[in-house]
Amino acid sequence: MVDFNVNGKTAVVTGGTRGLGLHTAEAYVLNGASNVVITSRKQQACKEAQEYLENVAQQAGKTVKIIAIAADIAKEEDCTRFYNETMKAVEKVDILVANAGASWGAPLKDHTVAAFRKVIDLNVVAVFQTIKLFTPELEKAGTPEDPLRILIMSSVASLVASDPVGVYGYLASKSGVSHMGKNLALQLGPRNITVNSLAPGFFPTKMSNGLLSVAGDMMAEQNPRGRLGEKEDLMNVVIFLSSKQANYINGIVLPIDGGSYNGGAFMPKL
Ligand SMILES: NC(=O)c1ccc[n+]([C@@H]2O[C@H](COP(=O)([O-])OP(=O)(O)OC[C@H]3O[C@@H](n4cnc5c(N)ncnc54)[C@H](OP(=O)(O)O)[C@@H]3O)[C@@H](O)[C@H]2O)c1
Repeated sequence: MVDFNVNGKTAVVTGGTRGLGLHTAEAYVLNGASNVVITSRKQQACKEAQEYLENVAQQAGKTVKIIAIAADIAKEEDCTRFYNETMKAVEKVDILVANAGASWGAPLKDHTVAAFRKVIDLNVVAVFQTIKLFTPELEKAGTPEDPLRILIMSSVASLVASDPVGVYGYLASKSGVSHMGKNLALQLGPRNITVNSLAPGFFPTKMSNGLLSVAGDMMAEQNPRGRLGEKEDLMNVVIFLSSKQANYINGIVLPIDGGSYNGGAFMPKL
């Protein structure tokens, strides 16, 4: 029997109040974490997600402390405050999931530089700053057998260039962070930190719901597995890549998309 777990670990998940970040936080709660720190901009969302995760833990008989800190990590000072408040609340950090992200779509002629920049600020700059801040903490406790983990929430959009709706900044941002992750994997691997990127296909969340409402059925039909991504698809991968058993996996970009990107598109022609 193979037991994948994160027993006793402290995990930090940016954008952990809904969607893929909340699924990720839930995976840690259910699989042995001692502390799970989440953040998002909205205080109320933080409170509700904290209550949700505490309830999940209670139902599953798990002892885990949930810490929710409201911060806009796309703002440099607020990202630093998030880091400082996290380190006041926990003694160590074992796992960092740089998940918070946003998208914007418009045809090239209408696509403003401001919209492009906003996406890059969160999806790339904040990922860089978060990793930069937490790396010295992560480095303290890593061992060759059980290195500390950085997971970057990239996207299959980092692997294919086809884009019918004009998410220019999103494509650039996700390719950028996947590539940065490979570079960091080389640099931090010897320091007992692994860096891997997740490349989900389409999962129903607030971010993807607009597109899914017009093309969701088509996307499910055209997917080689005949469906969209589900919560468990992500949770299983997150726990595996955070487990001791995955200590030799470093610098990958792992598609979680039913194989659709092999067809050369991450969304169908609309
Ligand atoms: N859903 C998909 O199909 C899919 C596919 C591939 C990759 N992804 C990636 O997965 C990640 C999560 O996406 P999702 O679909 O779960 O999106 P989502 O439902 O919109 O959730 C985004 C999360 O990030 C938080 N957030 C947004 N801006 C923030 C900021 N400036 N500072 C701190 N937190 C912020 C949001 O909370 P607040 O609004 O309260 O700040 C929320 O908790 C993103 O990186 C996305 O690119 C998603």
